[in-house]
Amino acid sequence: MKTILLVGAGHMGGALLRGWIKNAGPGFRFVVLDPNAAKAQSAIASETSESIEVSHCIAKEEIPRDLEVAAIVVATKPALVQDAIGSLTQFFQPTTALISIAAGVSVASLQEVSPAGTAVVRVMPNIGAMVGHSVSAGFASSNTSQEQRGLVTRLFEAVGQLTWLENEGQIHMATALSGSGPAYYFAVCEAMIAVSEQAGLPPLIAKALAIGTVTAAGELLDATPEPEHLREMVTSPNGTTAAGLEALLCSKTLNDLVRRALIAASERSIELS
Ligand SMILES: NC(=O)c1ccc[n+]([C@@H]2O[C@H](COP(=O)([O-])OP(=O)(O)OC[C@H]3O[C@@H](n4cnc5c(N)ncnc54)[C@H](OP(=O)(O)O)[C@@H]3O)[C@@H](O)[C@H]2O)c1
Repeated sequence: MKTILLVGAGHMGGALLRGWIKNAGPGFRFVVLDPNAAKAQSAIASETSESIEVSHCIAKEEIPRDLEVAAIVVATKPALVQDAIGSLTQFFQPTTALISIAAGVSVASLQEVSPAGTAVVRVMPNIGAMVGHSVSAGFASSNTSQEQRGLVTRLFEAVGQLTWLENEGQIHMATALSGSGPAYYFAVCEAMIAVSEQAGLPPLIAKALAIGTVTAAGELLDATPEPEHLREMVTSPNGTTAAGLEALLCSKTLNDLVRRALIAASERSIELS
């Protein structure tokens, strides 16, 4: 039985926990530390599993003292991560891996507050974890064992897919691309709704058409992971899509916008580190 101590069961921690209960398979015990009882309980109650034990503590004093912890997963807001880890040092054993999903909190600053020699893994999941479709990017400190990497892979594949990065610097662009990425698609969807409403479509129709379009595009990309091929497939010469794409892509407008967005998010991630 592997015990995972989850610290913080908010949006992302709660999504991970739901995925783990549903998909991680047998052999896990999850102990959840979160002062916000309502958030933690809703994550725990939404999925049930006979083979997995889950318990919730609202303060660290409630965590069983004799716990043998395979991994501590920190999912608090970035500013609270160091204090949260610093207050839990008694639960680290030599084989305990520290996994942080906090944006902009470096391996070095995680090592500063954890016992010497702790294997530290940063993972940047995304909110797709709420529906089992997170794309997560991970980076492990050099003292992380194959078994610990395997555990991280198992946990994050329970909520989607995990890709290992070659160096920690790559996590800034991964954060900008996939960590923050769902919000960009939501913003594009909002813009398409607003513009088509201004052009006369009734609001409910605009919303249904815009959301249905994004969902279908996502499913098509999942089935055929070739965006260029799909774009060409739906574009007839001189047709309406060709006209729309010409406006979108002229003078590299879209590329410039995307570059500005990804670089701004990546620079913010560097600033936070
Ligand atoms: N949301 C995303 O799309 C996303 C994507 C990738 C990574 N992340 C990372 O995920 C982390 C969490 O983000 P979130 O959006 O899930 O935040 P959130 O909804 O605020 O969840 C954080 C949870 O941690 C609890 N908490 C605070 N201090 C704690 C402590 N010392 N011990 C245990 N629990 C504590 C909070 O309780 P209270 O509510 O009472 O404060 C809250 O329930 C962040 O570091 C973020 O960078 C988020």
